[in-house]
Amino acid sequence: MDHVKRIGVLTSGGDAPGMNAAVRAVVRTAISCGIECVGIRRGWQGLINSDFIRLSSTSVGHILSRGGTILYTARSDDFLTEQGRKKAVATCKMLGLDAIVAIGGDGTFRGALELSRLGIPVVGIPATIDNDVGCTNYTIGFDSACNTAIECIDKLRDTMQSHERCSVVEVMGRNAGFLALYVGIAVGATAVLVPEYETDFQRDVVQRIQDSRLAGNTHFMIVVAEGAGSAVEFGKMIHEAIGIEPRVTVLGHLQRGGSPTGRDRETATRMGYYAVKALAEGRGNSIIATQEGGIVEIPIEEALSRTKKLQMDRYRIMETMQIGGIREFRENTQ
Ligand code: F6P
Repeated sequence: MDHVKRIGVLTSGGDAPGMNAAVRAVVRTAISCGIECVGIRRGWQGLINSDFIRLSSTSVGHILSRGGTILYTARSDDFLTEQGRKKAVATCKMLGLDAIVAIGGDGTFRGALELSRLGIPVVGIPATIDNDVGCTNYTIGFDSACNTAIECIDKLRDTMQSHERCSVVEVMGRNAGFLALYVGIAVGATAVLVPEYETDFQRDVVQRIQDSRLAGNTHFMIVVAEGAGSAVEFGKMIHEAIGIEPRVTVLGHLQRGGSPTGRDRETATRMGYYAVKALAEGRGNSIIATQEGGIVEIPIEEALSRTKKLQMDRYRIMETMQIGGIREFRENTQ
C-alpha cells in the first residue's frame, strides 16, 4: 500500500455500545498520523450511496460515553451484489479514500473481504453485543449489553422474590449463547438455555426448578438465549409441566442501548488505534482482534474461517452454583 492520506470509517450491522468510542479512536489516531478521515454513514449502503461527512478531532468530541453510533448503521442488501460493490468502489475513488475501517460483526467483515478483493484495503474492528466473532476473544459492546441485561434481571428478581414467581427472560445473541451464559452466571440463574447445548426440557428446566424448590427457593430465574428458542414458549411449557405461571420478559433492543462500560470504551479505543496504525504502516485487509488480552491483526479471510466455541466449563459452573445449594440442603435434612 502506498502512503495512506485519507481513510473512510463506517459502522455496519447491529449497533453496539462502544462503536462511537471506536470511531473517535480511528479519527484521532488518523489525525495524529497525518491522515484525513471521512465518516461513511449507514454502513456499506452509505458507501454505495456516497453518504459521507468530514470528521475532525472536535466532531468526535464527547461521543466516547454515548451509546449507538453517530455514523448510523444499516444492513445492506445492495452490497451483496456485484453492482452495489462496484458503486462502493466508485465512491472510494471519488472521495480519494485509500482505505476503509469497518466496525461491525461477521456480516460487516464478509463485506470487507469483498471490497478488499476489488482493491480497496479494509481493516475491520469487531463490535457486536453477541460476542460471536470467531477470530477474537472479545467484541466491543458485549460487556455493556451483559451489564444492561444483568441490571434488568436484578430488578426482575426483586419482584419475582416478593411474589414467589418464576421469571423466564429472553436475551439476545443471535445464534450464540455467550450473552445468555455470562448473564446467567452473573445473576445466579436457576437454568440457562443456550443454542450450543441441546436442551432436555425435563432435565435442564423442570428438574432444576424442582430441585431449587427442594433446596428452599421460592422464586426461579430462567435465562433463555434467543437462539435456543422463545421465552414465551418455554414459559408455556413450564406452566404445563409444573403448574406455576411464569412471567416472561423479552429484553430485546434494550440490550443494545446505553452508555458503554469502561471495558468497551477502553477496548474500542485500543482497537481503533491499532486499526489506523496498521494502515499507516502499510498493512491492511485484516481484522483487529483481542487474544489473551493483547491486540493482534488477522487476515480477513482467515479471520472469517475461525470459529469460537461457547465455554462449556462456564455452563458447568452455572449449574454447580445451583447443585451445590441443593446438595447442602439434602445433607442438612437427612
Ligand atoms: O447482532 C446483534 C443483534 O442484536 C442480535 O443479538 C439480534 O438477534 C439481532 O441483532 C437483532 O437485529 P435487529 O436489530 O435487526 O432486530
